[in-house]
Amino acid sequence: MRILIKNASLVFEDRVEKGDLLTEGQRIVQAGGNIDAPADQVIDGSGCFVFPGFIDTHTHFDLEVGSTVTADDFISGTKAAVVGGTTTVLDFATQERGMTMMDAFHKWSKKAEGSSCHYGFHMAVSEWNADRIAEIPKMIENGVTSFKMYMVYDNMRVSDGQIYEAIQRLAKEDCIIGIHCENDDIIKARVRELKAAGKTSSRYHAVSRPNVVEADGVGRLMDAAYLAKGPAWVVHLSTREGLAIARRARERGQEVYLESCPQYLVLEESMYDEPDGAKYVMSPPLRSKLDQEALLEAMGTGEIDWIGTDHCSFTMAQKSAGKDDFSKTPNGGAGVQNRAEIVYTRAVKGGFIDMVAMGQLLSTRAAKLFGMYPRKGVLQAGSDADIVIFDPDAPHTIHMATNLHACDNSPYEGYEAAGMARDVILNGELVVAKGKLIAAGRGEYVRRDRCGRYRK
Ligand code: URP
Ligand code: ZN
Repeated sequence: MRILIKNASLVFEDRVEKGDLLTEGQRIVQAGGNIDAPADQVIDGSGCFVFPGFIDTHTHFDLEVGSTVTADDFISGTKAAVVGGTTTVLDFATQERGMTMMDAFHKWSKKAEGSSCHYGFHMAVSEWNADRIAEIPKMIENGVTSFKMYMVYDNMRVSDGQIYEAIQRLAKEDCIIGIHCENDDIIKARVRELKAAGKTSSRYHAVSRPNVVEADGVGRLMDAAYLAKGPAWVVHLSTREGLAIARRARERGQEVYLESCPQYLVLEESMYDEPDGAKYVMSPPLRSKLDQEALLEAMGTGEIDWIGTDHCSFTMAQKSAGKDDFSKTPNGGAGVQNRAEIVYTRAVKGGFIDMVAMGQLLSTRAAKLFGMYPRKGVLQAGSDADIVIFDPDAPHTIHMATNLHACDNSPYEGYEAAGMARDVILNGELVVAKGKLIAAGRGEYVRRDRCGRYRK
């Protein structure tokens, strides 16, 4: 099977160039220039930008949180992802206490069968002891080279000392560990205080976790990584204060990777006052315009490395568990389909970044750090034929009803997007045409190499 894309603007790592692109089987055979080769399918790319398939570094599909399971599993989640231009998701497999990492790996491999885009796993670890450490080589052998620890959530929280040890140990293997940075003790104290004062509605979720709560976590991570002489990766950075601390760590020579999410670029804390404010209950919470602008500017300067969604969807019925107590609301929101269109609209059209930076933020840097480059994340001969044809002039309104998320609410409901992924090629096959999924279940597991630590 050969697919020829004609007359498009090809987004390379350092430039945009008008030209053609040819795939054969599962690979790109030529990217750029005028190609007059026979092909089974010819796609007119005029007026569109061609990107390497987008990579979402942060999803939670089929995640059990207490007695609740996320609305999206891998079947619905990856359909939504690929329609939005994401050809690979990195989901967080979770090693619950008492479970091995291999158990979690097998459990998540089973959950992900039948996915419509490619998938890999970060391993979220709830314990750090000799048994878990002994499993690291097995993880690497199975293509899991990135990990995660939480400073919050009673079932997952680890100590700062364990974070320090994990960074040190994993750096030796050129693996990396992302950290959910918040101060759990302060959050708990503030939740108690707010509830005692009868302040139980969704807006108090944000009040319980103000900016400095994240900044404190980022600071502790930076110091742990400094002493451990390893890389620091902040997942879902949401505040200007956290950004400032990460910046200072870089200034003292540290290797720091920063992820942010669309919700911190376009949604605001005031939204908790809406009647369905519970749909915005996520951690970290929504912030202010000042935070949005700081993050957008940092995307423009290259200080933010990539944008992941933190897709973790719950129905309004599930969210209603917190109607009388915000702290009982399951945390998270739907968004895996909407990442590229939001980043394009807010950051590119808003003048903060150009199309080359959009490619870096949605694909290339993630491919590099997470051991997939140059198989993925770049348009070049020999790379996987995972490709997005993005229409920059396709105004539309985001509705949960038109999203493929298996969720009855969207934090982006009503958002006016300026462009969208029009066609998507996965493994050399057209799977999305004119915004519609035409071939489901084509995703494969991505066995990743060790991390390409480009800031080392
Ligand atoms: O609120 C969120 N983000 N829920 C998902 C778990 C996490 O904290 O990443
Ligand atoms: Zn998350």
